[in-house]
Amino acid sequence: MPVSQRAASVAGVKVLAIESSCDDTAAAVLDGRAVLSNVVVSQDEVHRLYGGVVPELASRAHMSAITPTIERALDEADCGLADLDAVAATYGPGLIGSLIVGLCTAKTIAFARGLPFVGVNHLEGHLLSVQLEAAVDFPYVALLVSGGHTSLYLARAFGDYELLGATRDDAAGEAFDKVAKLLGLGYPGGRRLDELAQSGDPVAHHFPRARLKVKRGDRRFDFSFSGIKTAVALHVRDRERADDADVAASFQEAVVDMLVDTSLSATRHVGAPRLVVAGGVSANSRLRQRVVGDAGTLGIEVVIPSLRYCTDNAAMIGLAATMRLERGQRDGLDVNAAAVADLQQLSPP
Ligand code: KG4
Ligand code: ZN
Repeated sequence: MPVSQRAASVAGVKVLAIESSCDDTAAAVLDGRAVLSNVVVSQDEVHRLYGGVVPELASRAHMSAITPTIERALDEADCGLADLDAVAATYGPGLIGSLIVGLCTAKTIAFARGLPFVGVNHLEGHLLSVQLEAAVDFPYVALLVSGGHTSLYLARAFGDYELLGATRDDAAGEAFDKVAKLLGLGYPGGRRLDELAQSGDPVAHHFPRARLKVKRGDRRFDFSFSGIKTAVALHVRDRERADDADVAASFQEAVVDMLVDTSLSATRHVGAPRLVVAGGVSANSRLRQRVVGDAGTLGIEVVIPSLRYCTDNAAMIGLAATMRLERGQRDGLDVNAAAVADLQQLSPP
């Protein structure tokens, strides 16, 4: 059901939400569950030269972008600070210097205007982002796959999340970016690698799919992408002819195999009826095609939010905050930025 049709019960509570956990400065205004504005200012230009996010540069870029981003979000929502009912921000996990910028700005606005404040776990935002466009019933398994995360969660209900698996080394998006860099595709290269792969042969090379041995205490549905990255680097170093499109397609196929097989195994294992895929890598054309096809044969429903809600954004932070406010949660202004913030430790709303 479209969000606008469901918003009536909670409309009237306007929340300004701020997200600055990594390299995007984002602000959004929500009225209940209706998104009035959703502004994201990317720092790709700042980090391109280095081929990855440089934390110190990210915090400085947030410092210059934060006020104009908030102003734009308020303008586009046609409201001012005086119209707000609450302020929310991501407190973690993420880069500390980046988090502090958005979090302190949000707490300052809340203090100055005497508004309630809610600190939001970034991963909860991703898990709930799918609810911005459709009422997706719990339980579901969510694959969060981006440049910073590759994790599988079971969302049993709002506020009740269990980590089923995560990468033990690189995030899948990081592997896409590193292989794209090896092929000279620029940064961030995931999308360009996806485009190049379309003219390549996905079985031209067999790159290794990590099958992790599970020892006592390990999670069963973990991922690993460092081996494949090294395998591609060695192939590119030793190859006799340029076969970039085949390398791109074969690498992508291996990563997609790992993501899809593990996610669907986890979904079946916990008996969830649906799988949500979110994060920047969910834009990958082969991943979308494979996950929908393979899940269909297993009778598992797949839900992928629009890209603007898959990648880092403040609307998902606003939604998590709204759902927490509805249940009476208010946080003190002593909420601190946290580089590591376990979703399973969230206090139930
Ligand atoms: O969620 P996101 O915008 O930011 C964070 O990492 O938090 O995800 C960005 C990641 C980058 O690694 C980028 O290369 C990857 O998503 N990406 C893709 C595609 N589009 C973006 N990876 C593979 N195929 C794509 N089409
Ligand atoms: Zn994220």
